This record gives sequence, structure tokens and C-alpha cells, in this order.
Amino acid sequence: MRSSSFLFLLPALAGTFASHIELPAGVPRSINEFREKHPHKGSTGCGDDRRIVKIRSSRNDTDDVADDFLAGLKKANNGGTLYLPEDELFVIGKPLDLTFLNDIHVHWDGEVRFTNDTPYWQANAFHHPFQNSIMFWKWGGSDIQIHGSGVLNGNGQRWWNEFAGLEILDPDNEYLRPILFYAENATNLAMEGIHEKDSPCWTNFVVTSRGVSFRDVACTAESNNATALPKNTDFFDSLNVEDVTVERVWVNIGDDCFSPKSNATNIHVDTMYCNGTHGQSMGSVGQYAGEMSFIQDVVIENVWLLNGQHGARLKTWAGPDVGYGFIDNITFRNFWQANNEYAAFLDSCYFNIDTETCEKYPSQMNITNILFENFSGYTSGKYGTAVASLTCSTNPDAVCENITFKNFNITSPCGGTSGNGTTTTATQTVIICDGIKGDIGLPCVSADTAEAKAALANTCKVPLATINPPF
Ligand SMILES: *[C@@H]1O[C@H](CO)[C@@H](O)[C@H](O)[C@H]1NC(C)=O
Ligand SMILES: *[C@@H]1O[C@H](CO)[C@@H](O)[C@H](O)[C@H]1NC(C)=O
Ligand SMILES: *[C@@H]1O[C@H](CO)[C@@H](O)[C@H](O)[C@H]1NC(C)=O
Ligand SMILES: *[C@@H]1O[C@H](CO)[C@@H](O)[C@H](O)[C@H]1NC(C)=O
Ligand SMILES: *[C@@H]1O[C@H](CO)[C@@H](O)[C@H](O)[C@H]1NC(C)=O
Ligand SMILES: *[C@@H]1O[C@H](CO)[C@@H](O)[C@H](O)[C@H]1NC(C)=O
Ligand SMILES: *[C@@H]1O[C@H](CO)[C@@H](O)[C@H](O)[C@H]1NC(C)=O
Ligand SMILES: *[C@@H]1O[C@H](CO)[C@@H](O)[C@H](O)[C@H]1NC(C)=O
Ligand SMILES: *[C@@H]1O[C@H](CO)[C@@H](O)[C@H](O)[C@H]1NC(C)=O
Ligand SMILES: *[C@@H]1O[C@H](CO)[C@@H](O)[C@H](O)[C@H]1NC(C)=O
Ligand SMILES: *[C@@H]1O[C@H](CO)[C@@H](O)[C@H](O)[C@H]1NC(C)=O
Repeated sequence: MRSSSFLFLLPALAGTFASHIELPAGVPRSINEFREKHPHKGSTGCGDDRRIVKIRSSRNDTDDVADDFLAGLKKANNGGTLYLPEDELFVIGKPLDLTFLNDIHVHWDGEVRFTNDTPYWQANAFHHPFQNSIMFWKWGGSDIQIHGSGVLNGNGQRWWNEFAGLEILDPDNEYLRPILFYAENATNLAMEGIHEKDSPCWTNFVVTSRGVSFRDVACTAESNNATALPKNTDFFDSLNVEDVTVERVWVNIGDDCFSPKSNATNIHVDTMYCNGTHGQSMGSVGQYAGEMSFIQDVVIENVWLLNGQHGARLKTWAGPDVGYGFIDNITFRNFWQANNEYAAFLDSCYFNIDTETCEKYPSQMNITNILFENFSGYTSGKYGTAVASLTCSTNPDAVCENITFKNFNITSPCGGTSGNGTTTTATQTVIICDGIKGDIGLPCVSADTAEAKAALANTCKVPLATINPPF
């Protein structure tokens, strides 16, 4: 590392609230610094006598080598390694069913890129009923290791351009976009080192699998078109998974940084850098009528979240046709945040349910044993001096208990009475809480109180948390 202290500029708009914020030493400020700090170690090397399989690479941007890729995986299956060398391009132009894998490595130093023929993929991609998802390919089987310094490129720009103005959760939306990496029925699946780039939609979706890990992975989705954002490019979503590890991941995308959905057990996230995301989210869960779903035994620690929507977040569906279940035993620990809306947010009225409907059809999810520990940093000011909001279901049968803050030090940039951002000290912040049984470890007020309303009204704006050059 070239420097041990990292400054984030907070210029003019923020007035004198803070001239800079110092991140804990050693936090990378760019994807290059991330790679320097967390180089991927790979797993081949001395003593690795796996047989190596090579395939032809693409001669140009439209030269589809999907058949060769499939043949290469078949040949390398049961003990071998498919090798994709650096500086070689592998264009994939048709859907691939790769659920037959067993004891295979992919040494991935080159670039695998999907074609962007959007009508073709919409007609031919695989489909999953959950939130009407489509996928370029399906991976599955046992003992699958993908490792290397290569790129998995979803070529998302055209998809984002054509999706602009639409909403993924709109039941009438017909413009579906494929998920970049999809796995189902996988046991011991590891991805290491890869740069997952420009996914049209969610980046990873893992279904009915156990023993899944992502390490030293970089994930970006950056649009060159200001009116077509890389929407819904979540780093990680899952259904029905057990034993998931995410370690040292850099994420700069346009939705949730990490968000297991229905049925997740024993999840450990350690060290994530999330810029411009919607936060570290549990769920959404409870979307489907009559379906039971749960998330339990989760630790998410050492997280840096900048310029996003929320920080630590739980979201459960409400409405006339939703499911039931629970979220239990979740620890969010060591979170550093800059310029996010709520540092901690529990939303029991997902998705976009108005207060009246939410009260009429409250969420049927129990929320228990949630800990927010060692949070520091500042919010965006969108919610004034309210820095966290926890709203439990009004359903008398939905338990909401043991929700606790420890060492929570999040400030708001919205200065007390002047309201124009020129006060020199942050005013007292407010935590909004409703429907929680017992003490949360800090004072909190109901959203109905004058104090909460005043805090929410006292909005202000801060600029993007930018990184202070030179790197
Ligand atoms: C791309 O390469 C393929 C395979 O060699 C070839 O058939 C095709 O004509 C090339 N296309 C262009 C635009 O060069
Ligand atoms: C799941 O994978 C195992 C082997 O890994 C296989 O035996 C089984 O048939 C697969 N099940 C489904 C539903 O695909
Ligand atoms: C940018 O996205 C808009 C949709 O918001 C689209 O109409 C336009 O063509 C895109 N621009 C380019 C250069 O692709
Ligand atoms: C989640 O688990 C419940 C209870 O085992 C089951 O009924 C439900 O179908 C599961 N959902 C998914 C998406 O696997
Ligand atoms: C963080 O996100 C902001 C807004 O999306 C973007 O302008 C900035 O370049 C990103 N920074 C990094 C280091 O990726
Ligand atoms: C809570 O989850 C953590 C992480 O999976 C686990 O170690 C711990 O045993 C769980 N606690 C209870 C009471 O189950
Ligand atoms: C929610 O908690 C109540 C009270 O402990 C319990 O009766 C109910 O079964 C729980 N629901 C789920 C889905 O676990
Ligand atoms: C609290 O979190 C910060 C990151 O924001 C970390 O540097 C620090 O070590 C944590 N403190 C403890 C006691 O773990
Ligand atoms: C709340 O925490 C206490 C103390 O750890 C525990 O005894 C109790 O079972 C917890 N309640 C629920 C609903 O898990
Ligand atoms: C809380 O954070 C602010 C800066 O954001 C710092 O000045 C203050 O010392 C911290 N307080 C505690 C108790 O750690
Ligand atoms: C902001 O408010 C302070 C105190 O009320 C005042 O002195 C200052 O001129 C105001 N600044 C702007 C830019 O309005």
C-alpha cells in the first residue's frame, strides 16, 4: 500500500460538517488497490497434477465459442482443469447447461463475454420462477472451483439502455434481463479472483446449494449512459442455501451488495467494500403467498459502504398475498459508512406498500436476535437527522424481539437549527423504532412522534464521498 490513511473529500456542499473522513487504515480506494491488498492466491501450482484442457478462443467479438466451452468443461470434468489463458476472449452466444460438473477447476485468466443480442437471449435464456428471472447459463454439480485473474463480462450496456425507465418488480414488466452467474444444486462451489463485470441484471444467483464461497472477487457494473443505470445488478442473491462464505469482495454496482433471499442458513461475510449499492440486505423475504421462508445464522462483518441507499437492511413483504416465516440470529458488525440513507433499516412494508395497506395486511415474518454492532460514519441527510429506522410488523402474531444496537456511532450531516449545512457539529441523531419488544440498547422514538417528524424534516445533502487523490 502506498499510503496508510485514506481521505474522503467532503467539499463545499457539506459546509464545515467535516472536511474529510478518515477511513480505517488500509482500506482500498480503487479496484487496483483492492487487488493489491487482496491478491487472489489461485489454487494451482506445485503438486497440482490435474490434466489441463484448452479450447479455441474467439477470433472476434461475435465469434461464439459456446460449443467449445461446453466441450472443454466435459473434457475437464472429473478431475481436470479447463484453462482460459490471459488475453484470450471467449464469446458465449447461446445458453449452456453446465449442471453436470464434478471435481472440476476452471483456471480463468482470460475474458468470457456474453453476446448482447437482447432479443435472442430473451427468447432462449433459461428461466427461474423467482422474480421471473432469466439466466445465460446454469452451473451445478460438486467440487467446482473457478479461479483466476480473468473477467466474466455480461456486456450489460445494451440491456441497461433498453431497460431504462422500467421496474424489475413491476408485475407487468416483460423486459427480462439475464443473470450473469447462476448455480443450482451445487455442492462446494468456489469462485476466486474473478472480475464479474457489467451484468445485465443480478450478478450472482445461487439456488439450492451448499458450501458456496466467493473470495477476492471484484464486481462492477458501470454504465456509460447517464439515463440508463445498471439497475438491479445485485452482487449476490440466493434461494435455499447453506454454508455460504463471502470474503474480500469489491462491489461497485447498482443494487444490493449482498442479499440472500428465502431460506439461507449459516452465512458468513467478511470484508466487503460496497460503493453505490443498496446495502447489505437480508431479503427481501416473504414475497410469495403461502410460502414459508427464513434467513438464519448470519454474520456480516468488516464492511465499508459508500454512496449507497441503506447500510444494514432487512426487508420483508407485506400485502394481501404474501408469505410468512422468520429472520433470526443476524449480526451486522464493524460497518463503516459514508453518504448512505439509513445506516440501519428494517422495512416490514416491502415492496412499496403504502402505510394503510401495510397496516391492513402486515408482514407475517418474525424478526428476532438482530445485532447492529460497531457502526461508524455518516448518513446522506436524505432522512435528516434520523440515521436508522426499524419498523416491525404490526401483526400481533409476528414476533419482533431482541433487536440490539451496540457501539453505534453514525452521525448526520444535517446541522441542528440552521439547516443549511453550516453548523460545525453534528446534532443529536434520532433512531426511529416501532413495534419492537424490549430495549434496543439506545434511545429510539416512534415514527409518529414530533421528534421523529422533526428529524425527518431536517434534510440536507452531501456530495458523493469521493476519494482524495493522489492514490
Ligand atoms: C468473426 O470470426 C468468425 C470465425 O472466424 C467469422 O466467421 C466471422 O466472419 C468473423 N466476423 C467478423 C465480423 O469479422
Ligand atoms: C443434484 O446433484 C447431485 C450430484 O451433485 C445429483 O445426484 C442430483 O441428481 C442433482 N439433483 C437435481 C435435482 O438436479
Ligand atoms: C441511453 O439510454 C437511453 C434510455 O434511457 C436510450 O434511449 C439511449 O439510446 C441510450 N444512449 C446510447 C448512446 O445508447
Ligand atoms: C423454504 O423452506 C420452506 C420450509 O422448508 C419450504 O416450504 C419452502 O418451499 C422453501 N423455499 C424455497 C425457495 O426453497
Ligand atoms: C462510487 O460510486 C460513485 C457513484 O456511483 C461513482 O461516481 C464513483 O466513481 C465510485 N467510486 C469508486 C471508487 O468506484
Ligand atoms: C447464530 O449464528 C452464528 C453464525 O452462524 C452461529 O455461530 C451461532 O451459533 C448462532 N447462534 C444461535 C443461538 O444459534
Ligand atoms: C413466529 O413466532 C411465533 C411465536 O414464537 C411462533 O408461534 C411462530 O411459529 C413463529 N413463526 C415462524 C414462521 O417461525
Ligand atoms: C469497528 O469497526 C471499524 C471499521 O469501521 C474497525 O476498524 C474496528 O476495528 C472495529 N472495532 C472493533 C472493536 O472491532
Ligand atoms: C431474546 O434473547 C434472550 C436472551 O438472549 C433469549 O433468552 C430469548 O430466547 C430471545 N428471544 C427470542 C424470541 O429469540
Ligand atoms: C463518533 O464518530 C465521530 C466521527 O464520526 C468521532 O468524532 C467520535 O469520536 C465518535 N464517538 C465515539 C464514542 O466513538
Ligand atoms: C447558513 O446559516 C448560517 C447561520 O444561520 C448563516 O450565517 C449563513 O449565512 C447561512 N449560509 C448560507 C449559505 O445560506
